[in-house]
Amino acid sequence: MALEAIRFSRGGGLAPASLQLLEQRKLPLETEWLDIDGPQSAWTAIRDMTVRGAPAIAIAAALSLAVDLINSGGGSQFQGPAAAAAYVAQQMDFLVTSRPTAVNLSIAAEALKRLAGEEAGRAGATAASVTAAVVAACQAMMAEDVAANKAMGRHGADALLAAAQERGRAGSGRLRVLTHCNTGSLATAAYGTALGVIRALHEQGRLEHAYCCETRPYNQGARLTAYELVHDGLPSTLICDSAAAALMASGRVDAVVVGADRIAANGDTANKIGTYCHAVAARHHGIPFFVAAPTTTLDPQLDTGSLIPIEERSPEEVTHFKGQRVAADIPVWNPSFDVTPAELIEGLITERGLVPRALAASGGFAVRSWLAA
Ligand code: MRU
Repeated sequence: MALEAIRFSRGGGLAPASLQLLEQRKLPLETEWLDIDGPQSAWTAIRDMTVRGAPAIAIAAALSLAVDLINSGGGSQFQGPAAAAAYVAQQMDFLVTSRPTAVNLSIAAEALKRLAGEEAGRAGATAASVTAAVVAACQAMMAEDVAANKAMGRHGADALLAAAQERGRAGSGRLRVLTHCNTGSLATAAYGTALGVIRALHEQGRLEHAYCCETRPYNQGARLTAYELVHDGLPSTLICDSAAAALMASGRVDAVVVGADRIAANGDTANKIGTYCHAVAARHHGIPFFVAAPTTTLDPQLDTGSLIPIEERSPEEVTHFKGQRVAADIPVWNPSFDVTPAELIEGLITERGLVPRALAASGGFAVRSWLAA
């Protein structure tokens, strides 16, 4: 059975719509689904990491609004189209406050607010037509995300192999790839971004081995990526984050591919804490380092990565294990993400292909002009 983290059903006739999220905090030991009845419970599920991963957060948030709109009357709860559009804006603005770093949710929120506003302004619009347009857009996000991931997989598989071979690696045509955090079916609608590239390599017979880092402190790699790799039967090994440089030095990594939570206009990339260390180590060892992310992870409004808000999470994630203190009683700094400078990134893989480099010799990428083209 294919892995999934988000289940949405519209129901037939008078049946209510339903949204369920896989309780990712319990994986890989237990499989449990959490019912989400609207934006308030989705906000809590996002903040508390029941659902995580930049694309999955955005999709879960949007579908929580869809469930709420359908089950509260399908438009009959509003006094006219303007009231329906105002409600959509208010709920999306609230959902965006759940976690700060991943930009996908903000971009989805702006798109849904714009759609609701445009629909409300159309001649003959009703509260029901605004609601229907928003619900349809929320539902479409699932299919669009899977299509984007598949396209990224194809572009990424070619790009990784070409870059590795340019450096005299992967002469057999098969790659040994390192990844960080979880970017697969559990972090997206399905298939994944960076893990989608690894899946594509495997499908094409071009993957020799995948290495996943455990991703301290929340262990998305050990708990979730390892789970996905085993589920799909990919040749794979789990390593401690701190073993990555040693693995590279041993000659067992041909390319690195990671996901992203937000990519600034120059290509600086925020991703799970520890990503930056891998990029530095990869550069030192002459190993190509790639980022795979949908265009909804690009944030052309921010000039550089220094402007990306970085979430800091609770000290207990670092000091405790399963509720048990394992560290001394000491102050903790627990940033959930770091920013990898564009100059360390070989390529930004998106569903539309690779983002071109900026013409200036800044080591950056031309995100703004490429998106506008
Ligand atoms: O804190 P998380 O688990 O939400 O962080 C997830 C990541 O950093 C992923 O690499 C990123 O969201 C890309 S997911 C396709």
